[in-house]
Amino acid sequence: MGRGIKRIFKKVTMKGIILAGGSGTRLRPMTKVTNKHLLPVYDRPMIYYPLETLAKCGVKEAMIVSGRGHAGHFLELLKSGEEFKMRLSYGVQEEAGGIAQALGLCEDFADNEKIMVILGDNIFQDYRQIKRAAVDFARQKRGAKIIVKEVPDPQRFGVAYLKGDKIEKIIEKPKNSKSNLAVTGCYMYDKQVWKVIKELKPSGRGELEITDVNNFYVRQNTMTFEMLKGWWTDAGTVSSLLRASNLVARELGEN
Ligand code: TTP
Repeated sequence: MGRGIKRIFKKVTMKGIILAGGSGTRLRPMTKVTNKHLLPVYDRPMIYYPLETLAKCGVKEAMIVSGRGHAGHFLELLKSGEEFKMRLSYGVQEEAGGIAQALGLCEDFADNEKIMVILGDNIFQDYRQIKRAAVDFARQKRGAKIIVKEVPDPQRFGVAYLKGDKIEKIIEKPKNSKSNLAVTGCYMYDKQVWKVIKELKPSGRGELEITDVNNFYVRQNTMTFEMLKGWWTDAGTVSSLLRASNLVARELGEN
């Protein structure tokens, strides 16, 4: 690898955002008095994983959005972000109005820069592909980039449908999906995202949907994607929380 390429590969100047609001109903009673993202996944609180992914990708400044009642716990745990060599800011989502609504709270923080968003309950085996995607996205003139992964149970996720090497559409939790490409909880956006969020209408379940944001970019023909090779899991259900702990343990050679 030439020196110039090495330098570009290393440089990720995007701001990071971790969305850790929501209600965590599927993890009750564990989430009755605490926030899902503070629960343990093997040897660390869940939120450490997306934070470490951002940090390893070279993100230096990140904002964490959590729900009302728990923001103080995140602050106590993560403080200014020194442990992750990052500067952290905090935001509070008053009601669980959807992933896109939580993201909308970060406009001032982003200050018109490109952003990398990771959902607080998403764990990625390997940061390197995400870092490569971030470097590619930094060079992309405008638009968005998502990370997709082949899964056996696409009906649980937003699913991407490809036409050639482009994403044709994304459907939220399709019943009988012909595609098995789940949209993971790592999204990269340019500054258009703020206007898109302001124009969203709540979905049938009363939330502002990130899939609607992503489909704006698909329609604009500015959505790119990276196909993930390593494992990826959310940890938002009892079985996926267990799976996440087991995957991490195996990764550390302890199981
Ligand atoms: P979900 O798992 O879809 O929702 P949830 O966390 O409310 O859990 P449940 O469905 O069991 O009630 O959310 C995925 C991630 O998105 C979650 O880790 C946190 C984030 N999120 C927010 O920050 N704000 C929100 O309003 C929602 C719905 C999710």
